[in-house]
Amino acid sequence: MKIVHLSDIHIWRYSINPVKLLGKRAVGMAELFTGRAKKFRLERMEDVVDRVRSIKADHLLITGDLTTTALRREFEQARVALEPLLEDADRVSILPGNHDRYTSHSVRTRAFERVFGAFAPSDAFPWLRYLQDDRTAILALDATRSHLSATGRLPEAQFREARELLLASHPKPKRLIVACHYPVAAPEAYRSELRKKRMVNAADVARWLRRVGPHLYCSGHVHAAWAHRPHEVPEQLSLNAGAPLLRDPTGRRPPGFLEIDLTEQSVTVKHHAWTGMDWSIMPMVTDLRLFGAQASTVVQE
Ligand SMILES: [Fe+2]
Ligand SMILES: [Fe+2]
Repeated sequence: MKIVHLSDIHIWRYSINPVKLLGKRAVGMAELFTGRAKKFRLERMEDVVDRVRSIKADHLLITGDLTTTALRREFEQARVALEPLLEDADRVSILPGNHDRYTSHSVRTRAFERVFGAFAPSDAFPWLRYLQDDRTAILALDATRSHLSATGRLPEAQFREARELLLASHPKPKRLIVACHYPVAAPEAYRSELRKKRMVNAADVARWLRRVGPHLYCSGHVHAAWAHRPHEVPEQLSLNAGAPLLRDPTGRRPPGFLEIDLTEQSVTVKHHAWTGMDWSIMPMVTDLRLFGAQASTVVQE
């Protein structure tokens, strides 16, 4: 089973309609004018899509922030750009990020669901979806909220329902992937960045995940790629995909996405990274027994 994990595309559009500049969107638009446009290279999108397509994955998982200010035109542009990857809705899972819920208007009008709702088994979170092999399943959580800050919160009801979904699942997924826009933990280098825009009840989420057993945790939100074993959740392999269109002047956050290979108990993760000149494949982790009894892991962060 091969999965491509993509996140944080951040399609942006300029809007000149002053009505839409009122309130919170004004903050987003100001941010856009001062940096977003320089930060995300839309002209790279086609090449990213071609690269993902060339991998011929069994499943594509996108963990949110497809847009920047949740404008309808941003959603439409994201949909058009991703279209070559969206031919079979059974093989694509898409969840929202905080930028896709940027305004209460976008939440009220279900802007995300209207365009990307077909790529999930349910409009409501959490949901559990078995992939084609019937042994791998994605449990999707939504901690986004329409809120001035970038912080999120996983509602208590989602813990309860996720627990019930897993208890009721039959057969139990042999390989569980928990997907959520917000990481629960980050490697040292990104910890202070995550703290500023964290899931405010991440400690509760981590406590709950400790009881879930071995799992992959696929997230985005922090625009850097990693494979990390958080001490907060010892049986978790945390995977962050980074932002594929990010302009990376430092060379320390190469934009790209993750390719995840699952076989029986093992997982191998590679980062497809755009160096500015070409694609390179950076091996991130091989764990031969993540989904077995005893894990033996080699992790690069
Ligand atoms: Fe993001
Ligand atoms: Fe985000």
